[in-house]
Amino acid sequence: MPQFIPLIKEQEIQRQIQKTGQQISKDYKGKDLVLLGVLKGSFIFLADLTRKISIDHEIDLIGASSYEGTSSTGQILFTKQPDLELKDRDVLLVEDIVDTGNTLLKIIEFITLLDPRSIKICSLIDKRERREVKIDVDYSCFSLEKGFIVGFGLDYNEKYRNLPAIYDLKL
Ligand code: IMP
Ligand code: MG
Repeated sequence: MPQFIPLIKEQEIQRQIQKTGQQISKDYKGKDLVLLGVLKGSFIFLADLTRKISIDHEIDLIGASSYEGTSSTGQILFTKQPDLELKDRDVLLVEDIVDTGNTLLKIIEFITLLDPRSIKICSLIDKRERREVKIDVDYSCFSLEKGFIVGFGLDYNEKYRNLPAIYDLKL
């Protein structure tokens, strides 16, 4: 039986999202902000974050899933392209968790081709132990050294995204 060890409470998540939203509102004042959520894991974080941002902005989604290949870097499959025109706009990528950083690196490479004015990263969790590529997470609500977590959009084999708080999963 898997064990769910409580790690971050619902209230604490909301408090950090509120702070992050305020900071983004300040930093992007006068800019042309597009929140670009990475499916599927970011959908709950994105829904809360957008409501804590007080400046005008637009929202779009990009679908990317990593599938395990034989190579260690893995391959990224794009399952949905952005709908909005991103040229000359200030794109803020919204992720659930940055782990090795490989997914985000591929997404950044792809978005760069669309010629935005700026690209920054906002992640609910910045998990650093296994980072393989040099990537700066500009905004993160929580930092984690290691572990595998679920809840608040984060899954294990597509399950447990619905848990309202974040749990350490012990299999
Ligand atoms: P990366 O390419 O290694 O940075 O992996 C990013 C993706 O792996 C995330 O968007 C998640 O879908 C998944 N992932 C990495 N760590 C965790 C975790 O602790 N819990 C749930 N999903 C995770
Ligand atoms: Mg996932």
